[in-house]
Amino acid sequence: MQAINIKKLSKTYEDGTQALTEVDLSVAVGDFAALLGVNGAGKTTTIGILTGLVKKTSGQVSVFGFDLDSQLEKVKEQIGVVPQEMNFNIFENVIDIVVNQAGYYGIPRKTALAKAEEILKKLNLWDKRHAKGRELSGGMKRRLMIARALIHEPRLLILDEPTAGVDVELRRGMWDYLQELNTGGVTILLTTHYLEEVEQLCKNASVINKGSIILSDSVRNLMSTVESEVYLVNIESTENLKNWNHQDVTVKDENTLEISVHKDHSVTEALKLLEERGVIAISIRPKSNRMEELFLNAVKQ
Ligand SMILES: Nc1ncnc2c1ncn2[C@@H]1O[C@H](COP(=O)(O)OP(=O)(O)O)[C@@H](O)[C@H]1O
Ligand SMILES: [Mg+2]
Repeated sequence: MQAINIKKLSKTYEDGTQALTEVDLSVAVGDFAALLGVNGAGKTTTIGILTGLVKKTSGQVSVFGFDLDSQLEKVKEQIGVVPQEMNFNIFENVIDIVVNQAGYYGIPRKTALAKAEEILKKLNLWDKRHAKGRELSGGMKRRLMIARALIHEPRLLILDEPTAGVDVELRRGMWDYLQELNTGGVTILLTTHYLEEVEQLCKNASVINKGSIILSDSVRNLMSTVESEVYLVNIESTENLKNWNHQDVTVKDENTLEISVHKDHSVTEALKLLEERGVIAISIRPKSNRMEELFLNAVKQ
């Protein structure tokens, strides 16, 4: 049994937009999986279908063995979803937003209150429990949506671009919490275009582009397929590089080189090569990370 099992899922919106074309996607129980794709690729549509908000055109979807068509309520019970757009009542208190959600699942208020306390404390929102939704910062609003998604203790947590608009420090805090949930047995699927997020958090990733899955593998395998990584090197001058043709080195301007480092080599080796030519590197930074490279390559194909 898979946490998510999607077969040949297609979706054409009423205006004729074909958002998904025969998408196959499976997420194992206990996985921390990513659905990666640029804007408009079909991520939110996929999630909308999984959570019963968007009607599929064709294909099969099951969640922990429950069929979306015949057991929608069961499917919904399994899933906690953190939507891309804020959709809580901003005039309600934090604690009410979380506890009222429990009502939809028939959870008694007393049980829900205890659970809400536990989750809000974990997400550093307990001090804000009497604040109105609209008084929260962007990061807090996002965490509130996570708290609300977890109130019925779902086995599967789906997050649609969870860290968009969340600052770097808070993002790390959120990552730690998501990792803790996953270790505790919650299967997680997140959509993102922050590739760093996938590299840090996820075990498996699928890349979706124009409504089709173009790549699906373990993050480790996906990363090892990236042949080389490109670095930008800041140098004092290109003087010593005149008439030097090296396939992995491109002169960008007087003070910048682009070097491509094959996965079997290290940056240090590359820098040594430059040093032998009398070129001193002042600073070096990756032009893009491996995952980004991979993603761009996949989309180009
Ligand atoms: N309600 C809708 N009606 C018509 N087209 C839509 C609707 N929602 C999304 N789309 C279109 O479907 C495609 C996939 O969108 P979406 O699933 O939101 O992508 P993503 O979440 O990856 O950015 C896009 O072309 C988008 O414009
Ligand atoms: Mg989206």
